[in-house]
Amino acid sequence: MSTIRSVIKGVGGYLPARVVTNADLEALVDTSDQWITARTGIRKRHIVADGELTSSMGAAAAKAALADAGLEPDDIDLIILATSTPDQTFPASAVTIQAELGITHGAAFDVQAVCSGFVFALSTADNYLKSGQFNRALVIGAEAFSRILDWEDRSTCVLFGDGAGAVVVEAQKLNGVDTERGILATCLRSDGRYRDKLYVDGGPSSTGTVGHLRMDGPEVFRHAVTKISQVITETLGKAGYEAADIDWFVPHQANKRILDGAARKLGLAPERVVITVDKHANTSAASIPLALTEAYTDGRIKSGDLVLLEAMGGGFTWGALLIRW
Ligand code: ACO
Repeated sequence: MSTIRSVIKGVGGYLPARVVTNADLEALVDTSDQWITARTGIRKRHIVADGELTSSMGAAAAKAALADAGLEPDDIDLIILATSTPDQTFPASAVTIQAELGITHGAAFDVQAVCSGFVFALSTADNYLKSGQFNRALVIGAEAFSRILDWEDRSTCVLFGDGAGAVVVEAQKLNGVDTERGILATCLRSDGRYRDKLYVDGGPSSTGTVGHLRMDGPEVFRHAVTKISQVITETLGKAGYEAADIDWFVPHQANKRILDGAARKLGLAPERVVITVDKHANTSAASIPLALTEAYTDGRIKSGDLVLLEAMGGGFTWGALLIRW
């Protein structure tokens, strides 16, 4: 039996040059390297330079993913950018990336699901590819969270960083045993009752300003492990797998304690969990494609591996994706 699957063809990432350590933040707010490391696992983060944009980071990651896939920009007919920090309220930063890549066909748009953005965007691309509407997608997560942080609020400004990651996904008609390749199952969830637990206190239709990130950290933490575990179990069940079958767990990188808690609850060995939060902090929608890039480039993720992506973020939104690499 033949079936269309969305197969990952390439990955790429981009991190701004400037590195800010926990010690650097000690000079800015009343905090300590010891507090940040113990509560979050974060040691440093990359921060955008003046004039550096979400779209320019996204375009750099997209070019790296295209090079990894051995493809040209013209081979792409769909661009989906996951971001909560677009260059402008509109147009979508995806069209700026499209123009920078010199692509004039197909479609490009943004998806906004905060830290779950990349999982939502990749799932959206998967459905377009499987339906036959598009053939090859660039799915990008790019964020300049440093621009929406309140740098006087120690409870949030130490947690986030900037960066971008991208994957190229191709619709492939697969037969026989090959039908096991590509994106095998996805699961997306949201519950707007929790929208005031993690939000930005500004926006075009409310204040007319960009606003700053606000978060009830303990409340987010309280929901995270349960919601993440539930959606992972559901996603694995859809594809007929169990947690023990997973080769690589590539979660959204919010906080090492959340990742450890989710891995423990699912019975996943710590060495199967890809962790970048120590070096990148929480880069929101960029964190999963950046972690994928690192684990693929250093040879951990190999063709045929079963890879599980998972994220939770503002909204709340949460979701998971199971991929045969
Ligand atoms: N440095 C030093 N002290 C601090 C800092 C800081 N940067 N920030 C807060 N504190 C203090 C607080 O003021 C408080 O002091 P008090 O006891 O004198 O009042 C104390 O530390 C404890 O504060 P809590 O907020 O209760 O600390 P908690 O142990 O919950 O850790 C944290 C806070 C790390 C934010 C945690 O709640 C968390 O990780 N939550 C998840 C949030 C998250 O990851 N969000 C990312 C986006 S959502 C997502 O991606 C899943």
